[in-house]
Amino acid sequence: MSAEIIDGKHIAQEMREQLKDRIKQLKEVTPGLAVILIGDNQASKTYVSMKQKACENLGIYSKLIKLPDTVTESALLDIIQQLNNDQTIHGILVQLPLPDHIGETAVIEAIDPSKDVDGFHPINIGRLQAGGEAFYPCTPNGIMKMLEFHHIDPKGKHAVVVGRSNIVGKPMGQLLLNESATVTYCHSKTSDLKTYTKQADIIIAAVGIRNLITADHIKDGAVVIDVGMNRDDNGKLCGDVDFEQCRQKASAITPVPGGVGPMTITMLLFNTVESAERFSR
Ligand code: GUN
Repeated sequence: MSAEIIDGKHIAQEMREQLKDRIKQLKEVTPGLAVILIGDNQASKTYVSMKQKACENLGIYSKLIKLPDTVTESALLDIIQQLNNDQTIHGILVQLPLPDHIGETAVIEAIDPSKDVDGFHPINIGRLQAGGEAFYPCTPNGIMKMLEFHHIDPKGKHAVVVGRSNIVGKPMGQLLLNESATVTYCHSKTSDLKTYTKQADIIIAAVGIRNLITADHIKDGAVVIDVGMNRDDNGKLCGDVDFEQCRQKASAITPVPGGVGPMTITMLLFNTVESAERFSR
């Protein structure tokens, strides 16, 4: 079997076109996203600039707040408070990781949950679990959209999530469970990973270990979603899955790059537009 390639770029583009229409319908309201970038981390700078460009292309107002890594936690919390009260801002994102002297929990909890377009606030995490209007974290929600686009219904399937981060692994399992999948969580300390992954109808690899998932780890016809963003010895971007091996055995697979990556920013735009719609109701 040769797998169908799940093309994240294409799905992201289609979703962005739909978002353009929704933005037009908002008429007098321009969706606004505030991004706070602290310090000089090169990866964070690149992500933030990609997020800003994506906003511009769609007609979302984006406000960048750059702060030195010497900023105090209380100064940062004050800025978040101002953004919570700013009517032109519908989404607030504080780019992670933060400098060591700033508490991530305090910062995330300071964001008004109705503007928490990352979906990291405990209120949104709770609503993801218990139901109710919430923002879902962008990467796992983007994966759900990719599955939907390819008519892959998680209902009754065994989904194995490899990774347990707050940003991807944990919410991923919950979203799949909400769609009636049977969910198993594995992670970097799981012994005998293969025992679990070989039973998976859907594998989500989100552990950050290059080529961890090989053909031996999957069963024939599995759907393989690769969230990994690693670099090989030549500095080339690669995932957690050995793509060339696994594509021979899987029924559908995401490449890296061009798979999950483009969906993450799209879902940030999606949440920002959704937030502006809620504010304009
Ligand atoms: N750092 C890496 N990924 C993310 C993300 O999705 N949101 C935020 N705020 N920071 C990140």
